[in-house]
Amino acid sequence: AAGHDSFRTAYHFQPAENWQNDPNGPMYYKGVYHFFYQHNPFRATWGNGNLSWGHSVSVDLINWSALENAMDPDSSFDINGCWSGSATFLADGTPVFLYTGIDANNNQVQNVAYPKNASDPLLREWVKPSYNPVIALPDDVVHDNFRDPSTAWIGRDGLWRVAVSAGLKDGTGSTLVYRSKDFQSWERNAEPLYSSGDAGMVECPDLFPVAGPGDQNGLDYTPSNGAAASYVLKQSVMVTLSDYYVLGRYDDAADTFSPVEADNDCRTWHRFDYGHVYASKSFYDAGKNRRVLWSWANESDPEADYIARGWAGVQTVPRRIWLSDDGKQLLQWPIEEIETLRKTRVGLLGAEMNAGGINEIIGVAGMQADVEVVFEVPSLEGAENLDPNQLLDPQMLCGEKGASVLGGVGPFGLIVLASGDLQEHTSVFFRVFRHDGKYKVLMCTDLRRSSTRADVYKPPYGGFVDIDIEKERSISLRTLVDHSVVESYGGGGRTVITARAYPEHVAMANSRLFMFNNGTGAVKVSKLDAWELAPAKVNLPGDGLITA
Ligand code: FRU
Repeated sequence: AAGHDSFRTAYHFQPAENWQNDPNGPMYYKGVYHFFYQHNPFRATWGNGNLSWGHSVSVDLINWSALENAMDPDSSFDINGCWSGSATFLADGTPVFLYTGIDANNNQVQNVAYPKNASDPLLREWVKPSYNPVIALPDDVVHDNFRDPSTAWIGRDGLWRVAVSAGLKDGTGSTLVYRSKDFQSWERNAEPLYSSGDAGMVECPDLFPVAGPGDQNGLDYTPSNGAAASYVLKQSVMVTLSDYYVLGRYDDAADTFSPVEADNDCRTWHRFDYGHVYASKSFYDAGKNRRVLWSWANESDPEADYIARGWAGVQTVPRRIWLSDDGKQLLQWPIEEIETLRKTRVGLLGAEMNAGGINEIIGVAGMQADVEVVFEVPSLEGAENLDPNQLLDPQMLCGEKGASVLGGVGPFGLIVLASGDLQEHTSVFFRVFRHDGKYKVLMCTDLRRSSTRADVYKPPYGGFVDIDIEKERSISLRTLVDHSVVESYGGGGRTVITARAYPEHVAMANSRLFMFNNGTGAVKVSKLDAWELAPAKVNLPGDGLITA
């Protein structure tokens, strides 16, 4: 039954009970945000054969009301599961789903579904036309590797396009493009949008345009921005269970995509998150003219534990995404609505932290917290040298150089989810290295001491932050703590790390927060704001239905 155990999140999206994985078909329609998700309504496990589309609605992307499932596996073309897909608005504004059905032969096929009553802002009922599937399994594609249609986009020729993941029989991991006049009959383009033999099967493709450098507005697909805009292609890679994206050019005549200055193997691209998330999907939010990203963060404790809890899987907080000032990467930031949950605040200005310094942030309950801190680095002189092969694997580097390994410039950062005796704690920190006459900033979230339990997955995570620390001399960190989630944004959203943690002490409902510096060089905390966050209403019975 639905309830509040100590790991249940207070403001990260999750259904009242049972299993959730990928975000599906997020959209903003008639003043209402819709979120659909891969859901097993019967159990807290993925459960092959039972996948439905769960459905919740919101007016602020923070408080959610659960509705009936939008789709259940009940037709010959999806009888073994309604898998991931996306929403698209037709020219008249009607939303339509393209999704993967596991059919009666266990083949993966692509289907459409329409709202029964498009004038209902809550879009409670969805109809699957009997002419499904609209895209059958092609001969050269492995029968269980053909899935996850993207949001469709319309070209200057008036034809719709959709991207679909396909594992070809020759071993190529590919993203195919299909075109259609009417959303019903689809024809495959000879050229794929993406193809690589190295990364294996890729899933959940997302292709979208972005506005110019530093412009936080979102862009929707329009025929006219076609080849003019910069595009982002994102892939989810099964072998690494990570999401990668790259900037590039989309040719709207050939329907091909070329990454800008990047290898074709998507595992060399940027990561949305250097922690524990997968199957992310963005949507254009016309309500606030922004692009918003959702991602799934699964459990990392033993299956028996989450079966006992009765739920599994959370979504990261919705993130606004846009192109950085230098145009080289995306920046990500929690949507501003999250700030409406802020209550008690404590602040600090201009504190020095010397070598070995640790200061408690007192006055904010650490289980539901939002901490923003700016670290000023007066001198880079002591920065440790980095040898070239340490550059290749930031996660391994975070393992070697944990929070307690003294450094020159750093490690400095936050300690969250700490028990009274600090036996349990999760550290989120930076460390500055010297490399090739320049400086490299490493960001880590180290879970190794997050829980005294041995049987939970608690690795160190890490990524480099693309910041010119010599010029900027300061770096910011924002960490959102939510019971079993630690979601951190380094350098203003340049590098993001989301982790799941299972500290034993959270059962006592108290958790402490600290900042620390284990570098020999002093660090100045030029600004610190820490808020306790109120719980949001997230799908629990009794939360009531939002009114549009
Ligand atoms: C990604 C994924 C998708 C698939 C869905 C099934 O996590 O494997 O490729 O559509 O989950 O639940």
